[in-house]
Formats: sequence, structure tokens, C-alpha cells
Amino acid sequence: MKHVIGAVIVVALLTVGGVLVLTPANLLPEQASVQAVVIDKLFSYEFVVIAFLFALIMGLMIYSVIFFRRKPGDLEDGPHIEGNANLELVWTTVPLVTVLVFAIIGSNTLANVLHPDPKALEVRVIGQQWAWSFEYPDYGVVSDKLVLPVNKQALLRITSKDVLHAFWVKEFRLKQDAVPGVYKDLRVTPTEIKRFTLMCAEICGRNHAYMLAEVRVVSQADFDQFIQDSQIPTDPVARGEYWYRTQGCKACHSIDGSKIVGPSYKGLFGSQVQLEDGTTVTADEAYIKESIINPNAKIVKGFAGANGKSAMPESYAKSLSDDQINDIIAWIKTLK
Ligand code: CUA
Repeated sequence: MKHVIGAVIVVALLTVGGVLVLTPANLLPEQASVQAVVIDKLFSYEFVVIAFLFALIMGLMIYSVIFFRRKPGDLEDGPHIEGNANLELVWTTVPLVTVLVFAIIGSNTLANVLHPDPKALEVRVIGQQWAWSFEYPDYGVVSDKLVLPVNKQALLRITSKDVLHAFWVKEFRLKQDAVPGVYKDLRVTPTEIKRFTLMCAEICGRNHAYMLAEVRVVSQADFDQFIQDSQIPTDPVARGEYWYRTQGCKACHSIDGSKIVGPSYKGLFGSQVQLEDGTTVTADEAYIKESIINPNAKIVKGFAGANGKSAMPESYAKSLSDDQINDIIAWIKTLK
């Protein structure tokens, strides 16, 4: 009996210690959405169970190591125990009930996270190697930043143009795979006026680690201003720059001469381009267009991957229209 009380005290102390260490405030990033609140609450319950299980196993083990050590000179076998029906009943029922309780709490949390607001702002989130773009269908606007009004539910309809990516903003506590050919819905109601970072959370090739996008949660007035400032320009050159920012080109092509994944656009038009096969080509309209829609036709020297192919995705032939390509070329011509 003395040992039972002792062990219970050790387990209880360790549990309390564990709960103190495993507080969500210590372990989780800032909470910046309505959905994060319910998800963190679920986490906090799980942390208590985790702390108790850790204490139960480690506490009993440490207690036994100290108090049930073999004494010097004791060479006898330990007592032979055949089993204990009551104990088995307890260690079967308690975990079963715990798991069932968590199933109920978990499904309530999920229902909360999925709760739709009919007035939600729709944003199409499109992942592609290796950039994100955001379409606002109600406003006819595309952006390379995810701008959301504070305290308003956004319905994010997430998809991909090429391979699997994943939408993840840790402060929102939400993650969703971007799957080619399907729209996956995610609802988020941001609660903090602040900047966050959207990270791609699915290995998607060479620049996966750099597939980031800025997330800006702003007031309704700033959101309206953003929509006004993001209208598609009427001037072809300005439009070319707009497509460059919003269609993924920017992730791999600089305009200041620096090398990212692909060649820089600076001074490109009209220049002599050295190719992998040893030949040279003049960068005219036809060459640039061909390089966009068929990136493996002519690979610039130094830009072939280990497989001998271009790192440029072949998806642009489908994702960019002829007009968009012409706009981009008109803009590239101005980058001296
Ligand atoms: Cu996209 Cu990783």
C-alpha cells in the first residue's frame, strides 16, 4: 500500500510537470484565426493525455528502478504473477473510452473548422512549381499575395497546375493539399491584422523550400484598396509585368540579372543566348515564346538539370494564353 501511494504521487507530480511544459502557449505558434482557437483547444486536451501517459510509464519505471532494485546478494527469482483480470479490464476500458471521447471532441472540432459562412470571400489559391497565385473571382483580380480582410471568413479553393503542393499558414493552423485538377476547400477567418507566410508543405521539386507567399490580413478598407490597385492593367507592358508577378514566372526569373532557377530577364531581348548544345540563338519574340511553351526545345547553357532537361515546368503552354505571352514579351523588351 505504501508503494501504491508513493507511485501515485510520483506519477501525479510528473503529470503536473508535463502539463506545465506542454502548454499550447509554449509549443504552438501565434493563434491568428477563428479556426486556430478550436484546433488549439483540441491540442491542449491531447497534451494533457500525452503528459499523463508519459508520467505513467516513466514514473512507474523510475519508481521501480529505485525501490524494487535487487538487493546485493539476493539471487532469488521474483514472485511469479499469473495475471490480473481487474487490471486487464482497466487497461482495456480506459484507453477505449479515451479514444472514443477524443473521437467525439475531434469531430466537433472538425465541424467547427468546416462551418461555412454563406457570405465568405472566395479566393482561388493556385500552386505551381514554385509559386502561389491568388484569384479573386468576384473582383476579376489576380495577385501574388494572399490578401484577406480581417474577421471575415475566406473560402479558399485550392488547386495545383502541375504536381502536389500544400497550402500551410501555421498561424491559421490549417493545411490543405493542392491537387491538380480538383479544387479543395479550406475556410479561414483571420483575426489578426498582420503579415504571415504561406509555405508549401509538400515536397514539389527543386525550389520547394522557397515556395512561399506573403499573406496579409488587413482591414476592410485596406482590402478594398488592394482590390482597386490590383486590377489588370490596360497597357500591354504593364500587363506583362502583372502576369510575371501573378503567374509564377517571378519565382524563377529575376529582372536584376541574378540567377534564380532560370535565366534573368534583364537585357534578354535581342541578346545572343548560348545554348547547352553549343549553338547560339538571338532572343527574339519567337525564341522567347518557344521557351515558354516548350522549355526543352532550347536549353540555355548552364540551366540543364541533372536529367539534362530544363527545370522550367511544361505547364505554361496550357496555363498562359497567347495574349498573356505577348504581354510578357512586350514587357521583357523593356528590361534593358
Ligand atoms: Cu510546392 Cu512544395
